[in-house]
Order: sequence, then C-alpha cells, then structure tokens
Amino acid sequence: MVDNNLAVIVLAAGQGTRMKSATPKVLHELAGRPMIGHVLAAAEALEPEHVILVARHQRERVEEAARELLPRVEIAAQGEVPGTGAAADAGLALLDDGFVGDVLITSGDVPLLGAGPLGAFLAAHRDAEAAASVLTASLPDPSGYGRVVRDGVGDVQAIVEDGDATDAQRAIHEINSGTYLFQANDLRRALEQVGTDNAQNEKYLTDAIGVLVAEGRKVIAHRIDDPVLVRGVNDRQQLAEVARELNDRIVRRWRLAGVTIQDATSTWIDVTVELGQDVTLLPGTQLRGTTVVQDEATVGPDTTLIDTEVGFGADVTRVHAISARIGENAHVGPFSYLRPGTVLGAEGKIGTFVETKNVTIGRGAKVPHLSYAGDAEIGEGSNIGAGTIFANYDGVHKHRSTVGPQVRTGAHNVFVAPVHIGAGVYSGAGTIIRKDVPAGALAITQAPQVNREGWVAEHRAGTASADAAEVALQHSGADENDD
Ligand code: UD1
Ligand code: CA
Repeated sequence: MVDNNLAVIVLAAGQGTRMKSATPKVLHELAGRPMIGHVLAAAEALEPEHVILVARHQRERVEEAARELLPRVEIAAQGEVPGTGAAADAGLALLDDGFVGDVLITSGDVPLLGAGPLGAFLAAHRDAEAAASVLTASLPDPSGYGRVVRDGVGDVQAIVEDGDATDAQRAIHEINSGTYLFQANDLRRALEQVGTDNAQNEKYLTDAIGVLVAEGRKVIAHRIDDPVLVRGVNDRQQLAEVARELNDRIVRRWRLAGVTIQDATSTWIDVTVELGQDVTLLPGTQLRGTTVVQDEATVGPDTTLIDTEVGFGADVTRVHAISARIGENAHVGPFSYLRPGTVLGAEGKIGTFVETKNVTIGRGAKVPHLSYAGDAEIGEGSNIGAGTIFANYDGVHKHRSTVGPQVRTGAHNVFVAPVHIGAGVYSGAGTIIRKDVPAGALAITQAPQVNREGWVAEHRAGTASADAAEVALQHSGADENDD
C-alpha cells in the first residue's frame, strides 16, 4: 500500500571525483546492478508516494539509468550551488507545498542499506514524532565521515564534517550515515537558513540538523546495530569492499535457503539470480543477470552463466554461457561456450570444446566433442559426431539447417547450410553434406583413397619415417608367404 506521507529523495548529483572514472560513481556496478539500483530498490520497497533522484554530474546518463531501474522515479536537477543541502533543495522543489509528510533522504553512494533497516529507521522517527532523525553508526575508524555531536544528556546537537571538526570532535566515533528523515516543512524552513560558510564552501544538508536543534525542535539519532550497512563508496577500494560484503550476504542467504556453496570467496551471485533447493555451486562460479538454476543442479567449477536457465538436476562444468537454456538432467562441459539462443533438451549433452549459438538440441541429443553448432535444430536422440561443423555462414548471410530425430553422423562432418538431414540418417566420417539427405539414408562423400606404395622411400629417403617404413616392410616381407 502506498505511504502517502512519505517521499524519498536520493542524492546522486555529486561527481564522485575519487572514483577516477568516466562513469558517474552511482552507476558503478555491484552484484549486477548500478549502485543507485540498490538504493532505488530499497526506497521503492517502502512504497513512498514519491521517489525523487537528484542528479547533476552527467545527468543524462544517471537519469536514463535511473528510469530503467525504476520507471516512476522523478528526476530533480541540482543547480550551481554545490553540496548535499543544495541537492536536497532541488529534490524538495519537486514536492508540492501541500506535501507535509516525512522526507527520507538517502545517498546514492550508500548501497547496502536495504528496506529492512530503512523501515526500522522510519518507525523510530515516527514513534518519536521527531522533526528530524539521523541514521548513525559507531565506526572503529570514523575518519572522513561527519561526526554526531551530542550534549551531556545525549541529545543530538549538530553534525560536524570531518574537515570542519575540532580535534575533540574528530575523536567521536559516532558518524552520520548520510541518511535522514525530516518533516517536510521543518526541512524546507531549516534549509533556507543554511549557508556555504565552511571548509568546502558547500551547502551542507547536515547543517539543517543544527538549525532545528537551535529552534528547539526534536532531533533524534537512530544508531544502527550493523555499521557495515551504512558504508559509503567514495573510491574503488571501498567499492570492492562493499561488493565483497554484499556478495557474502547473498551467499549466506542462499546457503540458508538450501544451496551448497563450497567457496564464498570465488563465487559471485547477482542479486537478480534465482536458485533452487539442493543446487550445488562449485568454486569459481559467477551467476549473473536473470540466471535461474533449478533444484538439484550442479554448476561449476569455473563457470560463468549470464541470463541463463539451468534445469533440474543438470550439471554444468567449466562453461561460459550467455542467454542459454539447459534442460533438466542435461550435461554441459567441461569447456564449452554456449552463446545466445542455445536450447538444450532434457538429458541432452553439449560436451567438450563445443561452441553453440541459436541452436535447439532435442531431448537426449548429443553434441559431445570439438564441434560448432549454430543456426540449427537437432532432433531428439540424435548424436553428432566429433569435430562437426554446422557451416551456417556463406560469407554474407546465415542459413539454418535441420537434423531429424535419432540421426548418427560420423566424425568430422560439415553440414553446409541450409541443409536438411532426415530422421534416422547415418553419415560416414568426413562427410560434407551439401544436399538434403532423405530419412533412413546413409550419406557419404566418397573420394577414392589412393595409396602410392614406396613413395616415402623415394621422396623422403633418410628420414625417420623412411627408416620406420623400411623396418616394417622388411618385417612384413618375412611373412610374405602368409598372404
Ligand atoms: C556526506 C555527509 C557526511 C556523512 C557522509 C556519509 C554532508 C555535508 N556530509 O559526506 O556527514 O558522514 O556523507 O557517507 O552531507 N551529492 C549531491 N550533490 C552534491 C554533493 C553530493 O547530490 O552537490 C550526493 C552525492 O552524489 C552522494 C551524496 O550526496 O551520493 C554524498 O555526497 P559525498 O560528496 O559523498 O559526501 P561525503 O563527503 O561522503
Ligand atoms: Ca560519500
């Protein structure tokens, strides 16, 4: 149900200089989503009336990504004045004056803070009937963060930025997470009184807290138990640390849901992935995008699956797959590359050193060794010989071939597309199939084999081959009478 008394403003207008990147900081990826994707998802889960994202640096890119992640997001453009307070002004300007509910302000660079802790923060703010609430945490190393200054009885006095703090204030371990709740009118009034007279010449949102305290309004600090959740990302080292933490949480969640994950450090799972019960993930596995693995399947080691579906009980070993569908109890790998449009039927097999693309492989059909199968349909129970190429490309266009059910093709065949091979066909080793083959036929390309006896002795005299041949011929000469 929509909470008509709640608006969320996500601050994402900063440049993110410390990332040293052409990509805006909030678009850097974490578990399969841009950083702001995690923040927007947490905001959306609270079902607020408004979700507003404030952008400025590379605004078009940030805006486009945000709309894709959350189509109903409202985008506010921050003006020339820098700072989180100016960003909050821009967000507030999108709310009409009649909005008198709570405004939750979060940072686009604090991606681990999910809907659970945000909901608890909202409940605490509403219970206290506070004008403003700050989400805080105690950190062993608080450097870089704004510090929460309290008075003798523990009430919040102010938030002081690292660069503006006295030595005594710098010794405070309780930090501002950059997440706040304000009653809309209190925030509007307080921000009007905030200037830019500070170390960074910015309009600080944190100063709105001091203004409300001076007015005698109630301000509370809600300290979070798990400080890891409020970690901000300012550079790539912090991004990697936060990514590690998020992945550990995803791994833990799936383990508790019945998935065996041998090695959390080398297994990476996007937030968008779905796993069934009794799935086993072996070391070196990356599951990305919309990948789904059904019950009792085994994936890995050393496997990357992107937007791929793995059926019940299948095993997928040392594979790279993109937009593929693997049927139940099918076998894939080791060492195969499944490209988009690969559909492997139940109990089918794509074996070792096999590349596939746009191919439907029927139930129980096999492409076991050293082959390329592209733009084709292979019928149920058929077996494609080792080293077969579906030659689908004439240099200009791609063509499609079909192989019927229960076909047995020999090793090292080439199917020159488009070609249709009927049900139950056999083909000889080395066959190049250029014409359709009717059901039940044997296809062979018969180039007669010629043996020129004595050629090696004549043309390669003195080589190891010639010597070996001579020994063998002498030996067979001794048995000549047996022929
Ligand atoms: C801010 C807080 C600090 C807190 C820390 C928590 C202020 C003044 N300081 O510092 O107290 O401990 O977050 O992580 O608020 N942004 C804009 N417009 C701007 C500047 C920033 O939208 O003009 C956005 C950024 O994109 C970012 C967020 O606000 O998502 C925080 O900005 P950042 O510059 O990282 O602030 P910190 O120095 O980390
Ligand atoms: Ca920050």
